[in-house]
Amino acid sequence: MSEDQLRTNIDWEKKWQQGRSRWDYGQPSPALVTLLQTEEARVLIPASGLGLVPGCGHGYDVEFFASEKRHMRGLEISQTCVDLLNQKYPNAKEENFDFICADFFDFEVPEQKYNLVYDYTFLCAMEPYLRPQWAKRMNEIIAKDGVLITLMYPVNGQEEEGGPPPFPLSEEIYHDLLADNFELMYINDAIGHAERFGMEKIAIWKKK
Ligand SMILES: C[S@@+](CC[C@H](N)C(=O)[O-])C[C@H]1O[C@@H](n2cnc3c(N)ncnc32)[C@H](O)[C@@H]1O
Repeated sequence: MSEDQLRTNIDWEKKWQQGRSRWDYGQPSPALVTLLQTEEARVLIPASGLGLVPGCGHGYDVEFFASEKRHMRGLEISQTCVDLLNQKYPNAKEENFDFICADFFDFEVPEQKYNLVYDYTFLCAMEPYLRPQWAKRMNEIIAKDGVLITLMYPVNGQEEEGGPPPFPLSEEIYHDLLADNFELMYINDAIGHAERFGMEKIAIWKKK
């Protein structure tokens, strides 16, 4: 595989410099909030350890998952975005989260790896040729028995006006990418942001 095929051709830094983040809703998806209130989530999602939100955007999912027992890290390829995040969350360190600027495909992974990763509009933001690399990387960075939460979007196979990205996905694509190394523990239709009704599912995958 050539080096080019490991990299996106989308200029995310430019989008952040121009203030273009039309995917953003300013808060965690109600589908995620609802999931975390379920018994399944209580049993399946580790309450402590190290968590990661790759392509964290405006960062509220990172803040949402952080707790006294769980350190959360937001990963962003755009330095402009990380600068904005550091201004927005001056107390992040005290609240047990932080942000780093690096590429998901080659950032430095802590020795114990992550036991929680949350993907929302990250897989769909990359060109389809990068999907096998996304799955390989998820397998590398998540510890055994750790979980990957995927808020799957857009799983109706339709392109959005002005897109792609997002590049259309399907439940089957997630299965094909993850089934070798992850066990699907939970999946449900997601009631998230109103404009995305019928286009989302939420799933918890456990690393084998
Ligand atoms: C569509 S946005 C989603 C942001 C956030 N997850 C949300 O739901 O609002 C995708 C984000 O991923 C970041 N990104 C894209 N490719 C990346 C990579 N290879 N490594 C780290 N971040 C990346 C972009 O800068 C962008 O902020």
